[in-house]
Amino acid sequence: MSSASLIDQTGAADAAPGGARALLAESARVLERAGVPTPQADAELIAGFVLGKSRGEVSAAVLLDRSVSTAHAQQIRELVEVRARRIPLQHITGVAPFRSIELAVGPGVFIPRPETEVLVEEALRRTPQGAVVFDLGTGSGAIALSVAVERPDVTVFAIEKSGCAFVWAQHNRRTLGLENVHLIHADFTAGEVLRELPTPDVVISNPPYVPEGECPHDPEVYLFDPEVALYAGADGLDALTAMVPVAGMVLRSGGFFLCEHAEGQGDRVRALLGSAWWRDASTLPDLTGRDRFTVAERV
Ligand SMILES: C[S@@+](CC[C@H](N)C(=O)[O-])C[C@H]1O[C@@H](n2cnc3c(N)ncnc32)[C@H](O)[C@@H]1O
Repeated sequence: MSSASLIDQTGAADAAPGGARALLAESARVLERAGVPTPQADAELIAGFVLGKSRGEVSAAVLLDRSVSTAHAQQIRELVEVRARRIPLQHITGVAPFRSIELAVGPGVFIPRPETEVLVEEALRRTPQGAVVFDLGTGSGAIALSVAVERPDVTVFAIEKSGCAFVWAQHNRRTLGLENVHLIHADFTAGEVLRELPTPDVVISNPPYVPEGECPHDPEVYLFDPEVALYAGADGLDALTAMVPVAGMVLRSGGFFLCEHAEGQGDRVRALLGSAWWRDASTLPDLTGRDRFTVAERV
């Protein structure tokens, strides 16, 4: 269905410039019909992006049914149509919020997810004063940069092999003006590279973990997240299988390894951490109660 016919069906294309309430309701309807999982939120965020307002300010404008100029209404409708084609919201606005920071994102880099914020929270609890932290597969720099912002006392080394993602991470580090993050363009399985760095107290990773034959549910994921960020062999565990021995080799005794994985992979990830190098491997839930993270201590 063309974008024009979608608008025509709402009857809103002919509407005179008017209130925020009708415009937002129309936007949410278009997004809902397109199967966008969070139509209301996305409509508000697109409106906020166009109007230069926070989501809270947009909600207030809707509540008070403030008027929206014809030019702004047209821009909002155009971007809603783009989003209805399942282009990720973060590619439209150019940014992804992550904990206390905002990261520039776009084609070629994985969009950071809210569940990874929980992994960072858990890692920070285990990060001693003045620690060295490794982030393996940094993508946009979400984990590395948020750790560095929240803990100026630590030094972070962030490893990324995709040239495209590496450029996004460099851009984000520059924007945030962080001196305590070092970006390294390398493969995280390259033990000889990691061994040259200072000994880490904590190794964190949100690696690729989708099984090759599996298609992620949302088009935003399978069409826009880079394959190198998603897929990891037949069972989704190739990256972690290669990473765990390298993490074990570099971590100091008493240091922690923490990783994200898919629901249902926890027992196999704990098995990877079952050698004499590791103790107390345990799997932790995300905010919705699904087992998504595993942590272990280096003996
Ligand atoms: C799921 S994404 C996570 C990105 C970021 N840490 C986040 O949480 O938003 C996985 C990242 O690991 C990178 N990657 C995959 N295999 C790698 C490898 N062998 N060495 C280094 N980076 C790798 C991908 O390019 C991608 O940026």
